[in-house]
Amino acid sequence: MQRFYLDQAATSWPKRPDVLAAVTEFLHETGAAAGRGSYASARISANWLDRARIAIAKLIHAPSPESIALMGSGTHALNEAIGGSIRPGSHVIASAIEHNSVLRPLERMRMEGLIELDIVPCDQLGWVNPADIGRMKKPNTHLLAMSHASNVTGMIQELQSLGMWCRENGITFLVDAAQTIGYVPIDVQAYGIDYLAAPGHKGLGGILGTGFLYAAPAKQVTHRPLMVGGTGSQSESLVPELAWPQKVEPGNLNMPGIVSMAVATEALLREPFSEREAKMHGDWSRLRDLLSRVPGLQLLAHADSQKYVGVLSCCHSQFTPTDLAAILDAEFQIEVRAGLHCAAHIHHYLETAPMGTLRFSFGHELDPLVVGALEKAVESLSQVDC
Ligand SMILES: Cc1ncc(COP(=O)(O)O)c(C=O)c1O
Repeated sequence: MQRFYLDQAATSWPKRPDVLAAVTEFLHETGAAAGRGSYASARISANWLDRARIAIAKLIHAPSPESIALMGSGTHALNEAIGGSIRPGSHVIASAIEHNSVLRPLERMRMEGLIELDIVPCDQLGWVNPADIGRMKKPNTHLLAMSHASNVTGMIQELQSLGMWCRENGITFLVDAAQTIGYVPIDVQAYGIDYLAAPGHKGLGGILGTGFLYAAPAKQVTHRPLMVGGTGSQSESLVPELAWPQKVEPGNLNMPGIVSMAVATEALLREPFSEREAKMHGDWSRLRDLLSRVPGLQLLAHADSQKYVGVLSCCHSQFTPTDLAAILDAEFQIEVRAGLHCAAHIHHYLETAPMGTLRFSFGHELDPLVVGALEKAVESLSQVDC
């Protein structure tokens, strides 16, 4: 079936052939649990864990591979960071662009009376002004949760000054890098990030069911894990594992997923970021130009491509986002996502509630075949009388 996949913000597709080959080989030839036995195949699995941690640590400039915990998804990593770091009585600031995997755990804690929560607004295109965050600080502010880029608008936020502000004020800085990991450089040390959570199956290029959580050394010590269980070591003790990353990795890990993250991240590290990024920004402008030809289509983005990952949202004056997505799928085999994109707050500021937006997301680059399909769709939509 021919398909033109433009939902890379949900999960990347297709995966690299070497990623798929390594996963298949692992399942056929190895298949052992890591950190449990010392026989040959268990050692191969343990080696894959090391490879994944080393590659991800390099990608985000973490101080050591051991600061990377391997998780089941971005949501898993964010819940671990939030649930394991916040103490009752704390004040938390989160931005309006956050995904529900940040907002829902925080809102639940607020409803249970455990925390005070303030949401920082964004502007009509999804930009969060750091000055607004500063104004929300209270004496008991413990955590700032901030997405590196919105999964609705794709706009990249400024992290460095926020990290510095958090440091100066003793506030834990949690960054959701779901939409930027693998697409734009991230330096957790230079940006002063305490926790960085990301899926492994989007820009990183791993398979579904993967993610990771970086924790800065000081946070590794104070973190109280959400889950405890077997870790393959000190089995005589009923005291949970104390050392990061094992303290947040109880139970058997998703080894095929970890193999995929290792191979995909190593591939990213072999190519210069700058070239990949330049291509992504260029393709974003191309997509924006193409879509701006459709009468009645309002693009939720300004023209500076440097501020965006490969995500572009829009609304049409005649069609709902859901209708337009259905037309693109049925008539042009273009697969895009419509709706609120699991982001409860941002649409209030974008003025796109309750229908949400139509979101195009191309990942690292726009495939020429996809451009061809888009051109046909744009031509057809241009005939609609608006
Ligand atoms: C900004 C953002 N944060 C978190 C997530 C959750 O990631 P996962 O789907 O791996 O749980 C997503 C997924 O779309 C996202 O876009």
